[in-house]
Amino acid sequence: MADHPMKPPASGSMCALACLFLLSAGILLAAAVYRPFQSRAAASWDPFSRVQQKEEAPAPPPLARRGSYRAAPPAPDAVSPSAGGPADWSPDDDDDADAGPPSPAPAPSEEGWGDGDEDAQCDLFDGEWVEDAAGYPLYDAAECPFLSDQVACRRNGRPDSGYERWRWQPRGCGGTTRLGGAEALELCRDKRLVLVGDSLNRNMWESLACILYAAVPDRLRTRLIDDAGSEYMIFRAMDYNCSVEFFWSPFLVKLETKDNKTKALELDQLPPMLQRTLGADVLIFNTGHWWTHTGKLRAWDHLEWGGKTVQMAGEEAFDGALRTWARWIDYNIDPSRTRVFFRSVSPEHKSVNWCYNQTAPISRGNIAPWFPQSLIDIIEKNIKRMKTPIVYMNITRLSELRIDAHPSIYTITHEGKPLSKEQRQQPLTYSDCSHWCLPGLPDTWNMLLFNFLIRPLPST
Ligand SMILES: *[C@@H]1O[C@H](CO)[C@@H](O)[C@H](O)[C@H]1NC(C)=O
Ligand SMILES: *[C@@H]1O[C@H](CO)[C@@H](O)[C@H](O)[C@H]1NC(C)=O
Ligand SMILES: *[C@@H]1O[C@H](CO)[C@@H](O)[C@H](O)[C@H]1NC(C)=O
Ligand SMILES: *[C@@H]1O[C@H](CO)[C@@H](O)[C@H](O)[C@H]1NC(C)=O
Repeated sequence: MADHPMKPPASGSMCALACLFLLSAGILLAAAVYRPFQSRAAASWDPFSRVQQKEEAPAPPPLARRGSYRAAPPAPDAVSPSAGGPADWSPDDDDDADAGPPSPAPAPSEEGWGDGDEDAQCDLFDGEWVEDAAGYPLYDAAECPFLSDQVACRRNGRPDSGYERWRWQPRGCGGTTRLGGAEALELCRDKRLVLVGDSLNRNMWESLACILYAAVPDRLRTRLIDDAGSEYMIFRAMDYNCSVEFFWSPFLVKLETKDNKTKALELDQLPPMLQRTLGADVLIFNTGHWWTHTGKLRAWDHLEWGGKTVQMAGEEAFDGALRTWARWIDYNIDPSRTRVFFRSVSPEHKSVNWCYNQTAPISRGNIAPWFPQSLIDIIEKNIKRMKTPIVYMNITRLSELRIDAHPSIYTITHEGKPLSKEQRQQPLTYSDCSHWCLPGLPDTWNMLLFNFLIRPLPST
């Protein structure tokens, strides 16, 4: 499938979607599948700590399974703790798999690292951007041979480079974003990091691969596998036994082309490739933008649940998909060996906050709403309900400030060609204000990720 810069969602596009689908058939599933959550004990949610195992687990009915991935056990309320639920994981012979939190990787020598309770609880996502020409960029675009044309802004002629030199400074946390590539590479030693999601997670994967590649002393001892469609990629630093993979899955649930060539978004099914992520040390998911596409840009022709075509409001479909994903995580991921992250929605800068011509971050002030809050609420609600501890990488706000960090007109067309002079003069049509230049903002997302990896999981 073509993977193109996203068009601005028309304002109220979710409503359009909702209104379109808000026909009677929604009732079909609503009654059976969606239960009120209000009765659940209000668990306080610290996004940075291990989410307490819920005593009163939500009880969705069994979902239809069609063998595209390891069948989940029946509904949790029908499962005894010994029947394959999360309590049943036996430690394997991995060092980290003993009871208790995995031991932290050695912290870099700088002061203020991960010591003390206060630090463990601080909010890395609350802070400000500071110029740091000494520390950033973490690598040179020219140094990274596999940087894609779509986001290689300097190579595409972007004249300014200030956007490469900003460091995120959390208000608390002792300025912990001072991590560099060498520390990141060390943290990746003997690990497999896997990103799953849309092209924004591929943007993040490219950043990660470039950070690690630039830090490897012997670059001949690295490998890149990149399939033609960019749906699966892997970067390996052999001397470190470190690998970072990317699986393209913009909805997380399965998008299937039917015999009659129509496309079905199967809300209760996950793509088989998800099975291949099992055993990873770190999993990083995202989804969002593709759910807001309407008209010709919408990727699916109809929605399915249980093998049947269903009509649903956009929010309801999104919620169903996230529940399917969450159940898979809860039944298949052993939290003592795999740390799971969910990256929050990456902001676009279109319409009111146009990215074109911008060369400095927004310092303060209001940012026009650009993504349906209802979808963000659905993501946060689903993550909160999961048994598996999920680190919610809440990068939305810090990224919203980076209006300067998109490729804008320094990108390529859908056909993969550099923009022509004429096209550059039509930024409203040709600008990419949703992906991010590299080096650039996704480097910060990755450094925040590593800041979590140096901390042990807080014990419950
Ligand atoms: C290499 O890394 C993998 C994780 O990706 C780990 O399972 C394996 O034990 C490591 N190999 C060695 C020799 O440490
Ligand atoms: C294509 O097939 C699916 C079921 O496989 C059906 O739901 C859908 O309505 C069909 N679409 C057309 C245009 O025939
Ligand atoms: C962008 O900047 C150029 C050069 O400063 C200016 O000529 C042009 O009008 C600006 N365009 C917009 C849309 O602000
Ligand atoms: C994520 O960040 C936004 C903006 O800073 C905040 O409003 C929201 O509550 C945060 N979400 C969570 C789950 O912490």
